[in-house]
Amino acid sequence: MSIVVYVPIDSSAISLGANRVANAIVQEAEKRGIAIEVIRNGSRGLFWLEPMVEVATSAGRIAYGPVQVSDVARLFDANFHQGGAHSLLLGLTEELDYLKKQQRLTFARCGKTDPVSLEDYVSHEGYRGLSNALTMTQPDIVKAVTDSGLRGRGGAAFPTGIKWNTVLNTPSEQKYILCNADEGDSGTFSDRMVMEDDPFVLIEGMTIAGLAVGATQGYIYLRVEYPHAHIALNTAIEKAYQAGYLGENIKGSGKTFHLEVRLGAGAYICGEETSLMESLEGKRGLVRFKPPLPAISGLFGKPTVVNNVISLASVPIILDKGGEYYRDFGMGRSRGTLPLQLAGNIKHGGLVEVAFGLTLRELLYDFGGGSASGRPIKAVQVGGPLGAYLPESQFDTPLDYEAFAAIWAVVGHGGIVAFDDTADMAEMARYSMEFCAIESCGKCTPCRIGSTRGIEVMDEIISGHDLNKNIPLLRDLCNTLLNGSLCALGGMTPYPVLSALNHFPEDFGVKNEADAA
Ligand SMILES: Cc1cc2nc3c(=O)[nH]c(=O)nc-3n(C[C@H](O)[C@H](O)[C@H](O)COP(=O)(O)O)c2cc1C
Ligand code: SF4
Repeated sequence: MSIVVYVPIDSSAISLGANRVANAIVQEAEKRGIAIEVIRNGSRGLFWLEPMVEVATSAGRIAYGPVQVSDVARLFDANFHQGGAHSLLLGLTEELDYLKKQQRLTFARCGKTDPVSLEDYVSHEGYRGLSNALTMTQPDIVKAVTDSGLRGRGGAAFPTGIKWNTVLNTPSEQKYILCNADEGDSGTFSDRMVMEDDPFVLIEGMTIAGLAVGATQGYIYLRVEYPHAHIALNTAIEKAYQAGYLGENIKGSGKTFHLEVRLGAGAYICGEETSLMESLEGKRGLVRFKPPLPAISGLFGKPTVVNNVISLASVPIILDKGGEYYRDFGMGRSRGTLPLQLAGNIKHGGLVEVAFGLTLRELLYDFGGGSASGRPIKAVQVGGPLGAYLPESQFDTPLDYEAFAAIWAVVGHGGIVAFDDTADMAEMARYSMEFCAIESCGKCTPCRIGSTRGIEVMDEIISGHDLNKNIPLLRDLCNTLLNGSLCALGGMTPYPVLSALNHFPEDFGVKNEADAA
């Protein structure tokens, strides 16, 4: 019987040499006459250990990492293929502290399976949610999602069940399910990981959404910068069609759902749902006025469910185990789990899926191990480029939508970017204005003109010019952006700018918050 070795195919592992390591393992095994099967699994999301190679043993899978090509011969010398001792030995994968402390629901299969093997997916509880959904009425499917308390994971945290109910109750011959896979936020990668490492869960979630609201066509709007996800999704979609999980008469039910991937050209604003639809319709990515809501008149003017990858990928487990099972995780009105993405200046960067309620401090130190530089963490930006910078004094805030709103911050898509004490927060504020200027779609004046004026004001402040005039001017400008922008790109740029000013006034050349008022 051949030995089974797992080498991740996730782009995080590939970028660190996983393909070369996989080849080296095959060649070394051949040289030594050892029968070996190399399975390209997804990543477990412990990026500092990638490429993390696992070997199947009778006690469970044993991990080694980070493995380089130059380590391979010595790993064989140490009988790693039977779990032998070696300096890269990490122990039983499931017992690794970083993984053991997580509550993986959406990412339950991630890293365990071959991402594009339908058999593997089904044997790891895949397609159980869809089988249940096929026996349920449309309102009952929507009710299960409503009962779960799931809120959109793309940023706005809107209740998914309410959105689906609107589309269900809007009569139309054609409706659409649109998956927002633009994942433009800085420091985020959970959507990418789902699509590369467990694409069937997204396909299943979208199929259930289609059944629930009566939509027969789905699109995944994928950012062009994710070529590995593109390949994995298309391979999985083809297999799902061949096996009767997509197309006409799904598994003999008489129900239809078609699905295809469309590539975006790489504009941050095309992650905003109405620009995304413009782009998908072949037009320039300009934000649309709302109302009408996409749920009433969306893609090609038809009722459309627009959901983030993680929202849709969380649906199969809800339909499999029930809304209440999912709702039992979390705190307050933030139910279920959130896949957090630890990035920036952090020792142990990676994916951490836990129930809402964990504090930032626990995340940064118990999981993240502190900064990569070893210096104190000065600030973290949570929720992408439009999220607030939080100082150390706010690290005990629980990850919960309402707790973050109470300190004028957002959880967003769960991206966490850490900065050590060498970061200059005035430069970061300037960068936020510049980001807004570069990415602005140009439809409304506060954002189009205001962001460019914002860069100029920040330059004045950074050079120490007339702070008594320029700091109030910056606040005034932020107020206009906040209240006068058509969408959250302009509307939220004040979050990083003002949080930097309020929490780190010394970086703006003023002694304290009162002087920065
Ligand atoms: C400027 C901007 C960029 C956005 N980018 C994304 C994105 O990359 N991915 C995403 O899912 N949602 C993004 N959103 C949020 C979407 O407009 C929308 O709320 C979301 O796709 C709805 O799905 P959900 O309810 O599942 O979160 C963005 C919003 C704005 C204003
Ligand atoms: S806020 Fe900016 S990105 Fe949004 S509609 Fe206005 S110009 Fe476009």
